[in-house]
Amino acid sequence: METIKSRISGKKSAGLEGIVALETELSEVDGEHGRLVLRGHEVAELARGGSLEAAGELLWNGALPADGGSALRGAFAEGRAHAFALLPRLDAALALPTAMDALRASTAALEAHDGDTAGAPASSTAEGARLAGAVAVFAAAWARKSRGLAPVAPDPERSHAADYLRMLTGTDPSAAAERALASYLVTVAEHGMNASTFAARVVASTGSDAVSAIVAGLGALKGPLHGGAPGPVLDMLDAIGRPEQARAWLSAELDAGRRIMGMGHRVYRVRDPRADVLERAIERLAESGGGGERLPFARAVEKAALAVLAERHPARALRANVEFYTAVLLDALGIDRRLFTATFAVGRVVGWYAHVAEQRRSGRLIRPESRYVGPSVEH
Ligand code: COA
Repeated sequence: METIKSRISGKKSAGLEGIVALETELSEVDGEHGRLVLRGHEVAELARGGSLEAAGELLWNGALPADGGSALRGAFAEGRAHAFALLPRLDAALALPTAMDALRASTAALEAHDGDTAGAPASSTAEGARLAGAVAVFAAAWARKSRGLAPVAPDPERSHAADYLRMLTGTDPSAAAERALASYLVTVAEHGMNASTFAARVVASTGSDAVSAIVAGLGALKGPLHGGAPGPVLDMLDAIGRPEQARAWLSAELDAGRRIMGMGHRVYRVRDPRADVLERAIERLAESGGGGERLPFARAVEKAALAVLAERHPARALRANVEFYTAVLLDALGIDRRLFTATFAVGRVVGWYAHVAEQRRSGRLIRPESRYVGPSVEH
């Protein structure tokens, strides 16, 4: 009988593909059919008119709020206010050169509460909201500091999405921009046992605190094979410049041994369903006159990439992933490409925290084994 040990021994399993590491009630990623379901809700349904606060309610507390998400709005606002008050102590962390380094360092500086200590969040919802608030406030503060600007204080009356845009620019976003960013944040909030979520769960499984688990998630998300792809996607679109140059540019990239960013996925064998959701969000933004003019060009590049990749890898379906249209959407919203991965973290921290809470309930240490292939003891 095939055992897990025999399955992971080959190179093809070096990334633990196909291995079910644990059970979760949070999301189902169906790679064959291109479906993503969060606690019984299709991601497209949640993203349409949804909010990150409502996604938090669903993932952390088990059901969508009857009131459309405002139940957690106050908790998220408190999380932002808590983080903003810490900014004067985070000068060195926020001076780091990249947004993800700054986010990792500033989040690591948060006080970790392992028990009933003074200043601890009153509930797990408050703890999650505090972490979600911190990621949004620190990302926005880094973006402003990197341009020599003072941070903008959060506004408790705003939704998390609107306030993130406000804290970046200092002005209120349009309703269309708020909707588009909210769709994005919901779309990326949760996605099965991806690398950063797994990292966060491993840390949580040791009984460590939630801040440490989120810092682990941030470290994993930074990598270009995971959340680091959308900035390079935008660089690619800039470099291609015109649709008729796409095929030649992409072929040259593959000839040079490089991967096409925003294409391919470990689990999906069809188009990433999140790419569809984000494409619709860009369409709606463009219809409102709020940006997204690059969408036809991006579609042309996607088409060319599919053709070139199909020629090179006929046996492997390589399609657009979430990062491809993330780049187009966040750019349309005027978000600096240096901030794309950090903005991904603004949404994903909600999923990470849901997994931390689920892992705490399981109480089981995650500790796999390795197969030793080094030298034997010499006699
Ligand atoms: N561009 C070019 N070739 C790609 C590719 C891409 N984006 N994605 C996969 N391939 C190739 C691999 O090089 C491999 O070729 P080989 O068999 O000749 O070695 C083949 O397709 C199979 O890839 P595989 O190793 O099964 O993919 P994976 O499951 O390890 O990769 C990703 C998943 C996401 C890491 C990969 O598709 C990738 O690097 N994409 C670009 C980065 C990106 O967009 N990341 C965001 C993910 S949401």
